[in-house]
Amino acid sequence: MSWNSCQWLRKSRFVATFLFAFVSFSPFETVLAQAPEPASNPVALTSSPLTDPAIERRVEALLKQMTLDEKVGQLAQYSSGAPTGPSAGRADYPSMIARGEVGSLFNLDSAHAANQYQHIAVEKSRLHIPLLFGLDVIHGFRTTFPVPLALASTWDPSIVEKYARIAAQESSAAGIRWAFSPMVDIARDPRWGRIVEGAGEDPYLGSVMARAYVRGYQGKNLSDKESIAACVKHFVGYGAAEGGRDYNTAEISEHTLREVYLPPFYAALREGSASLMSSFNTINGLPATANPFTLTGILRNEWGFPGLVVSDWTSVGELVGHGIVRDKAGAAQKAMTAGIDMDMVSDSYHQHLANLVKSGKVSEARLDAAVRDVLRVKFALGLFDDPFTDESREIHGALPKERVDAARQAAERSFVLLKNSVAGSRPILPLSSESGTIALIGPLADDAKNMLGAWAGRGRPEDVVTLKTALVQRVGAEKIHYARGGEFQTSSDAEIQKAVETAQQADVVLLALGEEATEQTGEAASRAHLNLPGRQQELLEKVSATGKPVVLLLFSGRPLTLPWAFEHVPAIVAAWFPGIQAGPALVRVLYGDVPPSGKLVVSWPRTMGQIPIYYNALNTGRPADGVDLTHPPRNSLEKYISRYIDELNSPQFPFGFGLSYSSLEYSKTQVDSAKLNASALNASLRRAAADNAPHATASANVKNTGNRAVDEVVQLYVRLIGTGMEEPVRKLVGFKRISLAPGESQTVSFPLGAEAFSLWDVQNNQRVEPSRVQLWISPDSSRGLPAELEIVE
Ligand code: BGC
Repeated sequence: MSWNSCQWLRKSRFVATFLFAFVSFSPFETVLAQAPEPASNPVALTSSPLTDPAIERRVEALLKQMTLDEKVGQLAQYSSGAPTGPSAGRADYPSMIARGEVGSLFNLDSAHAANQYQHIAVEKSRLHIPLLFGLDVIHGFRTTFPVPLALASTWDPSIVEKYARIAAQESSAAGIRWAFSPMVDIARDPRWGRIVEGAGEDPYLGSVMARAYVRGYQGKNLSDKESIAACVKHFVGYGAAEGGRDYNTAEISEHTLREVYLPPFYAALREGSASLMSSFNTINGLPATANPFTLTGILRNEWGFPGLVVSDWTSVGELVGHGIVRDKAGAAQKAMTAGIDMDMVSDSYHQHLANLVKSGKVSEARLDAAVRDVLRVKFALGLFDDPFTDESREIHGALPKERVDAARQAAERSFVLLKNSVAGSRPILPLSSESGTIALIGPLADDAKNMLGAWAGRGRPEDVVTLKTALVQRVGAEKIHYARGGEFQTSSDAEIQKAVETAQQADVVLLALGEEATEQTGEAASRAHLNLPGRQQELLEKVSATGKPVVLLLFSGRPLTLPWAFEHVPAIVAAWFPGIQAGPALVRVLYGDVPPSGKLVVSWPRTMGQIPIYYNALNTGRPADGVDLTHPPRNSLEKYISRYIDELNSPQFPFGFGLSYSSLEYSKTQVDSAKLNASALNASLRRAAADNAPHATASANVKNTGNRAVDEVVQLYVRLIGTGMEEPVRKLVGFKRISLAPGESQTVSFPLGAEAFSLWDVQNNQRVEPSRVQLWISPDSSRGLPAELEIVE
């Protein structure tokens, strides 16, 4: 039975549900693009600032007046500034705008420029439709916060929301009402340079963070002059690029798509994200920018998304490169039919869409739907009522203190203490006034530009306080001996020698090493070697050979495989790229004014050969549990299991890991119900508003057994056993940040809603199945003692 032959069956909700189950077994069928269905799986989007009848009336009234060319114009987007991809777009924007041929511009550099273009749009174009200005506001407009991977490492959505609100205020002051963020691509491969732009490997954490970004950008009211539209990206599977090579192909089963890659998108859209961007990659044989299964089947038909879908930079035109069309006309047709509303930069819609509609290759209904999506966002932002920005709102001088403080607090919470060994009678960190003189060494110790990280918006190096500056302020220049030690890619023998001599003069060494932010992390910066670039490893080893205690501060956009360092260097901090307050934040954590409290959001591999490595893996039928993997197999029990013969299975540091300056004790996890009922949980799962109503509570006691204050991220994991589809060995389903004074303990409780027990079943429906459940409340994804309960029919 083909999909077409059973169209007649689409009569009842029940049947629609059946059909979706059927479709999920079929290959990605283009017919889905023309087969809108009511949402069935499981809860359609409930809140969106775009679903407003008053807006809808205005959209319809305007649409009626538009010519074909004016409609196409709304779907064309161009960059007016520095390119973030191949091709520079066009140059004749003023005349195009006056003719109504441009819907959106991005990469503008000032409020004044935005207002100038807007004057043309609203005064010279026939229908006076305002332009929508966008930008890659990723972790800051001007107040640059830590890179997103670091923001996620705070495990603190309130920090992310605060960041996004500040970014919205600053962007909107520059006339930018659209951020191409959040980037919610799940990434299990640190070779992929763009891992730095997301929240790591976990769908639950990624969803929590995605929602926080959207809340911050869009505020309570999208039409507020200080609110900007979010754009959740890249839909979908971009983080699964094979080999971690940027723009590469992804193969993801529908099950894994739904379990792992889709949840953060769904979360952002449920929070009301006004727009979404498609991705560059091919997914399961079809480019994501021409993929009706994801762009229409899931996004529109299942989820009911009412917002704007923009392509990525030239990704419509790139359908030619993918080889699924012969020319840009074909590209425009496929992208449009699949569900892309707006063509970013490729000019394919501008050149070909009108003819495609005239020849019937693209339906007028589809064209109108796309135009509605654009206009809806413009109306919701209030652009028709007030299209200009007040240029006096732009800050040209120093940044306000509260923004700087927020950036510092975010950075403080993002650092992950990976190692802190005892040197003499106490751990090296925190430093104290007795620590003596400090040798500060490394290319990142006094480098303002790199502290901003990749995609730094309109961040300015002059706003950055480097580690060197902050350290001098803290302890005085006389106590600091500084040597840069060379560059990222090249260092001379003399520079290395000088660094060694500098170390010899001091009592303790701070080594600031890592990647060059814009060249070695971010887009188009995938790496096949995750070592320290250039001669930094040699620098590290030579400085360590002085015998001085070394603290390695690792600045990077990804985990780096540094087995020598993890074995020999006594103290190591993952500092990521911390933003404008890099120096003060690091100094405060290094001296223990605030405790280190970041936790890893990606599993940290020991070696490249373990990649992809992620904690929420399946168990396999031959798990290596309990087997000593530190040597090659000696017998068949040690051999025929899922392992490497030459490396451990475990990562260097697990997901969720991060040390503090104190010690903690976790009690065994308790759960207050021995049995739960699957049908009650399923009923709850299907009630849009109530899907998180608690059915049970898990708790554990956490005690600070050391003598320093801690901020701890307590994590809740679940494993479901006896399910139809194999479920991961652990899945994060909750977390809480708590503060404990020395000796203090706290019972941490997690109410357990239906979602915590849910999975995507064999027919790709989300539901709760009868199963045995293990629950861990633990400091990371590898430790803790589980509680158990049963889910019965
Ligand atoms: C990136 C997007 C970005 C766009 C616009 C592309 O190269 O993939 O994430 O939003 O450029 O700058």
